[in-house]
Amino acid sequence: MASWRRSLPSLPLFGLLSSFILLLLQSSHHVARAANIVDNAHHSLIRKPTSSPNVLVFQEAPSFRNGEACGSPEISPIHISMTLDANYLRGTMAAVLSILQHSMCPENFEFHFLCSRFEPEVFSSINATFPYLRYKVYRFDSNRVRRKISKSIRQALDQPLNYARIYLADMLPIHVNRVIYLDSDLVVVDDIAELWEVNLEGKVLAAPEYCHANFTKYFTDLFWSDPSLAKTFEGRNPCYFNTGVMVVDIEKWRKGGYTQKVEEWMAIQKLKRIYHLGSLPPFLLILAGNIKAVDHRWNQHGLGGDNLEGKCRSLHPGPISLLHWSGKGKPWLRLDSRKPCTVDHLWAPYDLYRPSTHTLDE
Ligand SMILES: *[C@@H]1O[C@H](CO)[C@@H](O)[C@H](O)[C@H]1NC(C)=O
Ligand SMILES: *[C@@H]1O[C@H](CO)[C@@H](O)[C@H](O)[C@H]1NC(C)=O
Repeated sequence: MASWRRSLPSLPLFGLLSSFILLLLQSSHHVARAANIVDNAHHSLIRKPTSSPNVLVFQEAPSFRNGEACGSPEISPIHISMTLDANYLRGTMAAVLSILQHSMCPENFEFHFLCSRFEPEVFSSINATFPYLRYKVYRFDSNRVRRKISKSIRQALDQPLNYARIYLADMLPIHVNRVIYLDSDLVVVDDIAELWEVNLEGKVLAAPEYCHANFTKYFTDLFWSDPSLAKTFEGRNPCYFNTGVMVVDIEKWRKGGYTQKVEEWMAIQKLKRIYHLGSLPPFLLILAGNIKAVDHRWNQHGLGGDNLEGKCRSLHPGPISLLHWSGKGKPWLRLDSRKPCTVDHLWAPYDLYRPSTHTLDE
């Protein structure tokens, strides 16, 4: 584990090199995959799949152990919250693996998974893949938010579970007063303890902030032309931030009634269309310009491409601690389709998915 960590700090170089090598390897890889496809077709002729295609089979992750300088998980826990559902399970597994693999104190994590449905096969998958993982599961009642959601530009953004992050303060136990919320389409390539320890300086939330992004485009003309709405940002220097990676002071969130504030903006969105995206704009309306900014390396987002087409994108320059495939394209789908983007090869090493047909082949 330690040697792995040390080989990574200059990720852009690593990325370039590995993409180059992978490009070289691709042609032979394609031949192997093509052979597999033929095989699969053969199998499907002789045996019907015994389980539903949603049930994924994963390889067991190694057990990651604490380094010597780590306090006990009781004394210095790191709370991570993510959503969990069968559709994104492959992404979640890769994210969890990446977090543990790069951590000096992997036993100090406590994962808080938010699910809208009880899917026993998802939990048994987690148990089998990470037998040592300390985690809790919380039921998110999607009825709580379903009627409040208005259609965005991408259907995937309208899933109720995307909105679960708004209710973290209601769902997590009272002793959890700080949490890192993470999307499921990302991998961490550095010790996330560093992000965890950020000094929030009295703010409710920390995330990378982008003050040069054109903020205007996140809201509609109707929003900007209505003085009572447009004045929302008065006296602030609003900067974009991405809600896929956030450190949240849960106690401050609860005391400040932020859940209700988000719901109020969602109600306004339902009446007049004031933005195009899903759960993100209400966060901007309430908090943009008033968060604790952390280094950009903690969320290299947009690797999934834009929301409409999901075109390939390359990495932004600078150090990277977290890679995030926000946008339409997801690395596991693009890799499976055998039309991956170059950046998708950076996700592949964390993929624990083992299609059952492969076990048959071996
Ligand atoms: C997963 O493991 C936990 C803790 O050992 C156990 O309580 C739970 O029943 C297991 N779930 C499944 C579906 O195997
Ligand atoms: C920002 O975007 C808006 C609308 O898309 C455009 O009208 C405006 O000129 C842009 N501003 C800058 C500084 O690029």
